[in-house]
Amino acid sequence: MSKILVTGGCGYIGAHTVVELLQAGYEVISIDDNSRSNAWMMDRVAIITGKKVVNHAINLCDMEALGAFFEQEKNISGVIHFAAYKSVGESAKEPLLYFENNLLGQINLLKCVQKHEIAHFVFSSSCTVYGNPEQLPVTEETPLQEAESPYGRTKVVGEAFLRDFVKVASTKVIALRYFNPVGAHPSNEIGEYILGVPSYLLPYMTQTAIGKREKLTVFGQDYPTRDGTCIRDYIHVCDIAAAHVNAIQYLEGGKSKASFEVFNLGSGIGQSVLEMIESFERVNDLKLNWQFGDRRAGDVVAVYANNSKAIEALGWQLRFNLDDMMRTAWAWEQRVAQEGL
Ligand code: UD1
Repeated sequence: MSKILVTGGCGYIGAHTVVELLQAGYEVISIDDNSRSNAWMMDRVAIITGKKVVNHAINLCDMEALGAFFEQEKNISGVIHFAAYKSVGESAKEPLLYFENNLLGQINLLKCVQKHEIAHFVFSSSCTVYGNPEQLPVTEETPLQEAESPYGRTKVVGEAFLRDFVKVASTKVIALRYFNPVGAHPSNEIGEYILGVPSYLLPYMTQTAIGKREKLTVFGQDYPTRDGTCIRDYIHVCDIAAAHVNAIQYLEGGKSKASFEVFNLGSGIGQSVLEMIESFERVNDLKLNWQFGDRRAGDVVAVYANNSKAIEALGWQLRFNLDDMMRTAWAWEQRVAQEGL
């Protein structure tokens, strides 16, 4: 089986993807500097899969260390690139930190990919590239919008880099545009590790339910939607992870229609914030302390995916529904509390 390098393998989507790759029979190595993740994620991946993946604590901005790694690691057939900062709020305060970490890191990685003629590359992109779309659901052809944040810009620019890169490199590239990944592995061994106060909805809900936060604030109640709150496309992290295996298999099978292709990874279903609360309370049989508050600056009104391209071309199958997302997210929060993670 071929060898896949995962950058950011100790992160949320990274670790879930490492599990899926191992279970599909791939050999996996990881690069993660653990600046915003935990090395113990790989121990837990080993509990799930019975296989211990070696993580190399390298920062992608350190070209010397990265270059030396690639000189040593032979026979990498594909790279899945997750390692990046992802906080929208932080990126607004420190844009250069985001440009350096996300874009310089990507450039350095692509230099190595080109030098070693690595055949396949999968990039973590985001539905943030669609901004406030005029038509729903969004397809891969929906026009991209001006980025709302420096974080968003690193995704728009990161995709643009790849479009140009494939013109000169032998590498075939796929960008996967994630909608809102939530939930945790059904084994409850791995999940999202939250640094500080969560900005994302479901982690804020679970932290409120466990008592870490006093109250959830619903940002805005007068949006032009069915109940006045924003609509998003929440998708289980294991479904997102599995799509990366499908993407690698698609590339390996020579099925690419072009050197650079993009795919939406969403459930295809839009949920409002109030529907999320209702679902969380019902599935986990508890009451959430919440109130309405002001709109959050930069929030889009509604976005959800047309996911048929990934389903048809990649053979992607969705295995988890909203109830599973709610159940696994809550189970993980309780585990985090029990173990003081
Ligand atoms: C966030 C990022 C976006 C990124 C996306 C996927 C922001 C402004 N946007 O978007 O750039 O691409 O994740 O990674 O951070 N909500 C509340 N109360 C809360 C938290 C959230 O009502 O305490 C609402 C939000 O207003 C939104 C929905 O819940 O309507 C989802 O919010 P969130 O989880 O932050 O994701 P996105 O807004 O989609």
